[in-house]
Amino acid sequence: MTSFTGRVAVVTGGTKGIGQAVAARFEAAGATVVTLARTEPARAVGRFIAADLADRGAVQAAFEAIADEFGRVDVLVNNAGGARPGQALDYPEAAARAAFDLNVLGVLYAAQCMYPLTPEHGGASIVNIGSVAGTRPSPGTAVYGAAKAALASLTKSLALEWAPRVRVNCVVPGPVLTESLTAYYGGPEAAALVGQGLPMGRMAQPADVAGACLYLASDDAGQVSGAELLVHGGGEAPRFNRGSGAPGPDPTTAGK
Ligand SMILES: NC(=O)c1ccc[n+]([C@@H]2O[C@H](COP(=O)([O-])OP(=O)(O)OC[C@H]3O[C@@H](n4cnc5c(N)ncnc54)[C@H](OP(=O)(O)O)[C@@H]3O)[C@@H](O)[C@H]2O)c1
Repeated sequence: MTSFTGRVAVVTGGTKGIGQAVAARFEAAGATVVTLARTEPARAVGRFIAADLADRGAVQAAFEAIADEFGRVDVLVNNAGGARPGQALDYPEAAARAAFDLNVLGVLYAAQCMYPLTPEHGGASIVNIGSVAGTRPSPGTAVYGAAKAALASLTKSLALEWAPRVRVNCVVPGPVLTESLTAYYGGPEAAALVGQGLPMGRMAQPADVAGACLYLASDDAGQVSGAELLVHGGGEAPRFNRGSGAPGPDPTTAGK
């Protein structure tokens, strides 16, 4: 696997959950890591810069600080994201706009600010964090899923427009055992039950997503751009498997 020594990796939302694991993984691989989020954590991985990714001016200021301090960016992991759950019928307008501002426009802003800081001869890479909600809707994810679907499209457009200088890919996780998801499911036991319903028999850990990011940003993935890498433990076993005698857990009873 590529050593990232001498390379600068920026991880948005790198203070919690998946982003923190991604930041730690790049740091362990030798990268100089910069994490961006709104709130400074008690102990940041790498250099922390406060920025609201949904605010174009704040993103620009953060990348100006990165340019001043480090002079370049080799890897950008656009991990900051998420949206409040809710049915489409009465989803509040402000929340819908916020979801697109963060999950789509925030990624565009960060990518635009990163591009001029990448080496002209190539080797730089962007990894966006999507979600299976972008391709497989489930109740309560209408706006979030639409935003992640837009992100998948943005990934492919940037990959076309910015080759060969910057490769652009998307990691597409299923459920990942973070504090926020555990709270969403109502606690660790309920979350574990959901994990048991996956073909792999467990939910992904943040480190599973970090490993996928490291691969996509590495020289081993030098010909991979515009790709979506699913990290979803095999997906969901189809409902028609229920009672069919097919091996594996019964997804229809998990989490209920
Ligand atoms: N967990 C899952 O099951 C799962 C599954 C599929 C995809 N994903 C995706 O994976 C990514 C990370 O999810 P997670 O569960 O690890 O989230 P998380 O634990 O809630 O952490 C979110 C991180 O993003 C930062 N952030 C949030 N809003 C921000 C903003 N406006 N500007 C800057 N930073 C912001 C947070 O810090 P501050 O609040 O201090 O800003 C925090 O560092 C998201 O894109 C999410 O959609 C998650």
